[in-house]
Amino acid sequence: MDFLYENLLRPALFKLDAEKAHGLSIAGLKSGLAPKFRSNTFDRLKVELAGLSFPNPLGMAAGYDKNADVPQALLNLGFGHVEIGTVTPKPQPGNEKPRIFRLPADQGVINRLGFNSAGHDAVREKLQSHGSFDGIVGINIGANKLSDDFAADYVEGIHAFGKLARYFTINISSPNTPGLRALQGADPLADLLRRVCAARVEVLGENSSVPIFLKIAPDLTEREMDEIATAIAGSDIDALIVSNTTLSRAGLQDLKNRDEAGGLSGRPLFQRATIVLAKMHQRVGPKLPLIGVGGVHDAASAFEKLEAGATLVQLYSAMVYEGPTLPRTILEGINARMEREGLENLSSVTGRKAADWAERSLDDL
Ligand code: FNR
Repeated sequence: MDFLYENLLRPALFKLDAEKAHGLSIAGLKSGLAPKFRSNTFDRLKVELAGLSFPNPLGMAAGYDKNADVPQALLNLGFGHVEIGTVTPKPQPGNEKPRIFRLPADQGVINRLGFNSAGHDAVREKLQSHGSFDGIVGINIGANKLSDDFAADYVEGIHAFGKLARYFTINISSPNTPGLRALQGADPLADLLRRVCAARVEVLGENSSVPIFLKIAPDLTEREMDEIATAIAGSDIDALIVSNTTLSRAGLQDLKNRDEAGGLSGRPLFQRATIVLAKMHQRVGPKLPLIGVGGVHDAASAFEKLEAGATLVQLYSAMVYEGPTLPRTILEGINARMEREGLENLSSVTGRKAADWAERSLDDL
């Protein structure tokens, strides 16, 4: 790990409330003092997905840069793509503070932010003010807490960002907006995907090249996974992101914060999210590409996500523990491993251990 981060910055940040520390990290990125690493350093790490060319498979997951404050600064750390959001149609404050908690003994995070968002108009203006990006910036869209038609809020998101997004993510998997995860059920999901894909045609035409990804929870039964796979098969969705945070608290060591309400992320999520990724890969892959998220914290865990079925990988929580040089460390590690294995690209890695992962049980996780 980065010496400066481990010995100076992290101890100082960990003395602060987690959300304050997050705000300071954004200020740090804005200052331009953060380390830089070229995202296209390694040719063999280039990835094609849904018609987009990614310079490498590693992305910043949604939730870090909710309002598009620092997308280019994040790309400059080495990430091949950055997912901003979740953005809701109207601005909303989210839940009461404190609402983000570190679990250092587990290298985990619990959050119950509840979609704090500056709203479509403000985020669109911010994005426009940045101009073009050197890398891929996707937009993760959501629904307002008090909306009486969640699906209509996603349709609004497609309209609001149609011409600005390189890709969209439909986030129906936050545990912190009551009722949202019900959109993962067979009928509501089929209806949502139909409306969202129709909105894309309306805004961008029949041959739109802006792909739409769907982001799901890791807390699913086999039957719920079947239903999601069926709804996706009947839709024009382009990729599946697995997964958001979990409601599980299995195996946690941290005594102080483990009973806080919200979604758990970071290392304790790795096994569950990777198993669900593989189980979904068995259902919808390789026709539909998958993006693996949850507990990635080093090159080995990123590589395991790829082997379990992911074409791209994202992370968030590990940045809290490892600091801003983590993207570089991961990309160098994956590249070195590919060199050792004599691999020219990642296509033969994706899914090569999906069957093993998919067999594992979620019962004790
Ligand atoms: C998140 N995550 C998230 N996801 C999403 O789709 N929209 C969001 O607004 C947020 N917000 C958010 C806030 C905080 C503080 C955290 C820690 C996480 C979930 C995130 O994108 C990711 O799916 C999970 O955190 C799992 O990945 P990691 O953190 O284990 O790498």
